[in-house]
Amino acid sequence: MNTTARSTDTADAIAAAWNGPVGRHWAEHQDRYDAMMAGFNDALFGAAAIGDRDRVLDIGCGSGCTTREAARRAGQGRVLGVDISEPLLDRARALSGHLAHLGYELGDAQVHPFPASAYDVAISRGGVMFFADHTEAFANIARALRPGGRLAFMCPRPAAPGTDEGRALGRLASLLGQEQAIGGGLAEGMASLARPGRIEDVLTGAGFREIDVTPVTEDTHWGKDAADAVDFFLSRTPDRTVPDETRAAMREALLPYETERGVLLRAGVWVVTAHA
Ligand SMILES: C[S@@+](CC[C@H](N)C(=O)[O-])C[C@H]1O[C@@H](n2cnc3c(N)ncnc32)[C@H](O)[C@@H]1O
Repeated sequence: MNTTARSTDTADAIAAAWNGPVGRHWAEHQDRYDAMMAGFNDALFGAAAIGDRDRVLDIGCGSGCTTREAARRAGQGRVLGVDISEPLLDRARALSGHLAHLGYELGDAQVHPFPASAYDVAISRGGVMFFADHTEAFANIARALRPGGRLAFMCPRPAAPGTDEGRALGRLASLLGQEQAIGGGLAEGMASLARPGRIEDVLTGAGFREIDVTPVTEDTHWGKDAADAVDFFLSRTPDRTVPDETRAAMREALLPYETERGVLLRAGVWVVTAHA
């Protein structure tokens, strides 16, 4: 199989996942996913430094939490959210109402024909890991930015062994199999930008400069209690039945992280900034 064919197959599989059960699950549980990632918003928006008149592109915007926040910050500018998932864009549009300077488009950001030099800032909260070819994708985003335009995104950092998240998610993964723990066959994509060296190589290859990769660690919210968090995990694959003892072992793995504010796991991301 040549590289082009492999990339096409990968892109098709990723698009199918985000337009199939994975995307529908994220759309249906948008409030839970937003609550899970909320702790990272300040770091992302601090890095993006969006100004009132900026033209902003939100890559892999999903149900649009960060797109709407960008639109609040760029009140005199304009904001476009792009995503490959129809169910998530339906949810984004339903939640966004009608704001003249906020819009959404369906598209694969790797190849989407963005107008050249049309944006001041490109942001992404976890929407840049699933490209079939990351260098090609970031080069396409660089072309959409004006010269000197900013890129600010976050992507998962591997859970270090011995940390809360490492222990709890490791236990769930061993009980369920890694794919089930992460969800929907997207484990490989989720980890694709886990290494700072890889992030720097990809962005340099795409023409970005002044690359900064900073670790950020925050609480992530998984459910109101351990049983609720287990239900959420298992809802990702509704066709699979899990024995009662597995469910009980999952709950036990999450019990140490129950707090008054729900099940909280410390989790790490990279917050990455660069200039086109
Ligand atoms: C982990 S979710 C994050 C969604 C959103 N940024 C948020 O914070 O809720 C990843 C998103 O990237 C989108 N995505 C994956 N590959 C994409 C691509 N090639 N082009 C555009 N969006 C893509 C998915 O459809 C999904 O909405």
